[in-house]
Amino acid sequence: DHLPALLAAMPKAELHMHIEGSLEPEMIFALAARNGVALPYASVDALRRAYAFTDLQSFLDIYYQGASVLLHEQDFYDTAQAYLARAATDNVVHAEIFFDPQTHTARGVPMGTVIRGLSRACAEAPQKHGLSATLILCFLRHLSEREAFETLETALPFREHFIGVGLDSSEVGHPPEKFARVFARCRELGFRIVAHAGEEGPPDYIWQALDVLKAERIDHGVQAVHDAVLMRRLGAGRVPLTVCPLSNQKLRVFPDLADHNLKALLDAGLCATVNADDPAYFGGYVNDNLRAVAAATGLTARHAYQLAANSFEASFADAAAKARWR
Ligand code: ADE
Ligand code: ZN
Repeated sequence: DHLPALLAAMPKAELHMHIEGSLEPEMIFALAARNGVALPYASVDALRRAYAFTDLQSFLDIYYQGASVLLHEQDFYDTAQAYLARAATDNVVHAEIFFDPQTHTARGVPMGTVIRGLSRACAEAPQKHGLSATLILCFLRHLSEREAFETLETALPFREHFIGVGLDSSEVGHPPEKFARVFARCRELGFRIVAHAGEEGPPDYIWQALDVLKAERIDHGVQAVHDAVLMRRLGAGRVPLTVCPLSNQKLRVFPDLADHNLKALLDAGLCATVNADDPAYFGGYVNDNLRAVAAATGLTARHAYQLAANSFEASFADAAAKARWR
């Protein structure tokens, strides 16, 4: 069976990865020691044992706690640089990386500290690791639209360091329309637009992400299968879905990976891609996700090729880069 080798070796873009979700337990402990941050876990193993999630919120509580060890520009640089080195071993040739500034600025970390650290690692990635990398600033949807506007304002002095904005955190109860005005402003400013929708939330949230926020990609989007009209819209418009199989399994969106609908999305002609979401928390990087979902759902070499092609089509890289990857 050559499929695992094909999945691993094929060049790919990764479009849905939260940098805070790439902090491995060992790295959390090392940064906590370096920065004098107290952790409520006795050991790396004790922390890892806490990674027993029942839904999105049970994960987010631990994920924001883990991110609390990031204080200095060097911490953000080191985190991004570790991810980029790891991604290169999975033959990722382009990464669009999410970051959650509000989880840092709320602890008193300046916006510039966050963005400069991450951006420096991205800028060095072509030389150091042979891949291109850009940043997407995500607003936390459990916070207010006013706080999102304040975050945008604070980030604008660094606007050349991120290409787009997204929407993440607790989905149910925080529909995309809550952020209509701040996303309208982001569009005026020329940012690319993505949004998490239809991870745990209903198809209506995907409609809102498309029609209200004007999202160019939907992060997750797996609940779209429950709305036939929406499926036709996503297919006809080639609206990419950045799917994260191991995340969906660990957060019990599809408790059994064999029940995951990635193959159905691909076979319906949608531009679905495979991504790691939060690799340190969900048991794998992008190739682990590809291998696991392929084995569990019976993907073919044709699906593998389509996933790689979709990842490049869905990326915000320029036309020249896309032509090189064809
Ligand atoms: N932040 C990090 N991972 C996330 C996910 N899977 N859904 C929503 N917000 C997130
Ligand atoms: Zn995500």
